[in-house]
Amino acid sequence: MLPSQNMNQKNESIENNQRLNEFPAGRPTFSRGTGEIPPLKRDVRGFQRAIRLKIFRYDSKTDKPPRYEEFEVRKISEQMSMTVLEALLQIQDERDGTLAFRYSCRGAVCGSCAMLINGKFDLACRVQLQNIGAETIVLEPLPNLNIIKDLVVDMAPFWDSLQQIQPWLHEISNPPKKERLMSPKEREKIDQYVNCILCAACYGSCPVLGRDEKYLGPAALAKLYRFIADTRDSRGDETLKNANTESGVWGCDTVFRCIDACPKNVRPTDGIEALRRNLIARKFRKLFASLIL
Ligand code: SF4
Ligand code: FES
Repeated sequence: MLPSQNMNQKNESIENNQRLNEFPAGRPTFSRGTGEIPPLKRDVRGFQRAIRLKIFRYDSKTDKPPRYEEFEVRKISEQMSMTVLEALLQIQDERDGTLAFRYSCRGAVCGSCAMLINGKFDLACRVQLQNIGAETIVLEPLPNLNIIKDLVVDMAPFWDSLQQIQPWLHEISNPPKKERLMSPKEREKIDQYVNCILCAACYGSCPVLGRDEKYLGPAALAKLYRFIADTRDSRGDETLKNANTESGVWGCDTVFRCIDACPKNVRPTDGIEALRRNLIARKFRKLFASLIL
């Protein structure tokens, strides 16, 4: 299922959320790496090595409690690499067609396949099984978002936050006749934020979102800074209203989990800090302007 499909199914997701809220234990909790694991077997079909995946399973449409299910995937040789996403596709093709997960580009570009891989936030399409260094690999959906099915979460709150910061260029009055140029130095300032692929790993890792679902979250706030720092953008103070609140930049705990979680080396906390400075500077500018008048 793609993010766009997910957005189109918002109503269905809201219904799913209601079902999740009714779930006796609330949102399913993770019990990573618990339980007895039998020794690894050689793959019966004669392939050189099998790798075990322990996958979180849950369907918000049924009343069944969440569980972990183990699958073995065959790897053709030690030399041949295989990504977590390829392993999931193999399981879906050959073992269980009902296994749900998102992907699109398969090249760490679209951000669809973000999940917890042995407790670490990453993109399933870029993590090689052989680099994980564990016999059993535990796959879990992103926290802080309701689960629709298995590894597929409801991204609606994440997109809603993004929508709130108006993530598009606000035009400078008197636009130039030709294109709007930026110097390489100006562009460098926003480079890392432009690299954000909206995978929501930072959103899943954020402790503030665990207690305040209205919090805009690291990705939206970093994206807002990307536009504030863009010399071609001329947004006014009114577009910063949502960010200048306890559920915006002032809500950040500055514990840097989003930086650790980001698979694209974006540092959302830096953007949040820069936004705070920007908002204070705007306030002082206004204050001085009123004193001069
Ligand atoms: S900042 Fe990083 S982790 Fe957050 S949405 Fe963007 S790419 Fe994903
Ligand atoms: S499938 Fe696009 S980032 Fe993984």
